[in-house]
Amino acid sequence: MKELIPEALWHVDDAKKAGLYFYHEVIEEYLPGNRVKVAGHGEMLMLGGYSYLGLNGHPAINAASQRVIEKYGTGTHGVRMLSGTLEIHRQLEAKVASFKDAEAAVTFSSGFFTNVSAIVCLVSPEDTVVCDKLDHTSIVDGCRLSGAKYVRFAHNDMDSLESCLKDSSLPGKRLVVVDAVFSMDGDIIKLPEVSDLCRRYGAALMVDEAHSIGVIGRTGHGIEEHFGLPADTVDIKMGTFSKAIPSVGGYVAGSNKLCELLRHQGRGSIYTAPLPPPAAAAALAAIEVIEREPERVRMLHDNTRYFADRLRSVGLSFLNSQTAIFPIVCGDNWQALRMASSCQRRGLYIQDVQSRRFGFLRICFARRSRGSRWYTKHDKLMPCVICGNNQE
Ligand SMILES: Cc1ncc(COP(=O)(O)O)c(C=O)c1O
Repeated sequence: MKELIPEALWHVDDAKKAGLYFYHEVIEEYLPGNRVKVAGHGEMLMLGGYSYLGLNGHPAINAASQRVIEKYGTGTHGVRMLSGTLEIHRQLEAKVASFKDAEAAVTFSSGFFTNVSAIVCLVSPEDTVVCDKLDHTSIVDGCRLSGAKYVRFAHNDMDSLESCLKDSSLPGKRLVVVDAVFSMDGDIIKLPEVSDLCRRYGAALMVDEAHSIGVIGRTGHGIEEHFGLPADTVDIKMGTFSKAIPSVGGYVAGSNKLCELLRHQGRGSIYTAPLPPPAAAAALAAIEVIEREPERVRMLHDNTRYFADRLRSVGLSFLNSQTAIFPIVCGDNWQALRMASSCQRRGLYIQDVQSRRFGFLRICFARRSRGSRWYTKHDKLMPCVICGNNQE
């Protein structure tokens, strides 16, 4: 056992010693205006979560969840394939299918497991799966577990993708998997080009919309709406219910045949429990709210533009982000830790991201960030606070 556990745990021990540790902090309460009460820190402005549309606690979503608890309780006591399929699962799947303009949809108990289940089901060791270098870990794990030949192309680089697809030594069927919005960098995949290349080289295309559903496109319908592309651009439309949608779980939308396959052979349908009923009801109600209240998406887009301008005005760069995720590069990982700590001391819930590329702060400037009491008071100073330059 001893050999399995390293002596020093990554940078955790050092961060604790330096008084810069800020992970697993306990949130005691969600407060209005995107604020949270954090144990040992008091009230903070939440800029580290993904409440893109400010939907958590929406009365219609809470009520839908409560109604379903009255009807089914809180669990299913079984996997989807055997005894765990409830009417609420089917209702949610019909809603996702219509929201994503697909024939059908199938849901799973986590976004992570949705990617693993789908990829493992679709490709095998005789095939090839091609991914963007910055794709989410759940995609990477799905590819590895599938045993397919796993090839990566340079981030959002279409020449690099084409040279992978051209390579005639790669075996079998080809599946290209990309994030729609990259979760660390906040930039958007060049979907028109990716889709053209997939068609030209006969590859199927799967897109992960964890950070684009409810977020991009004029009415929040995601990546196809953002680019004005037809609904059949993406073959396997994957997404989660854990970011803009205040629940948990994931989906794949696509053809009837695809969903039939995932229902009967996806590991997430056979070997693990489905979405708990209140979570399924919350996801369904949240999609209905997104459809009914498009002003939420407009406000998110306005806020994103506003915050980007504020950061630019003081010379802060945020890579190629085009969404509400702002990666503020701050040199090495220690510098990022120190800058994050300086933000936290000023009441901003912002965390550093430790990466092999560089250390950075990741800020998610969601719908309700602006207009909160804290933000209004500090608006002019905000970018300086992030830089750690304000002397107040
Ligand atoms: C791009 C992407 N895909 C998938 C996931 C996994 O989703 P979930 O947290 O709902 O399991 C995440 C979560 O961070 C993500 O960012």
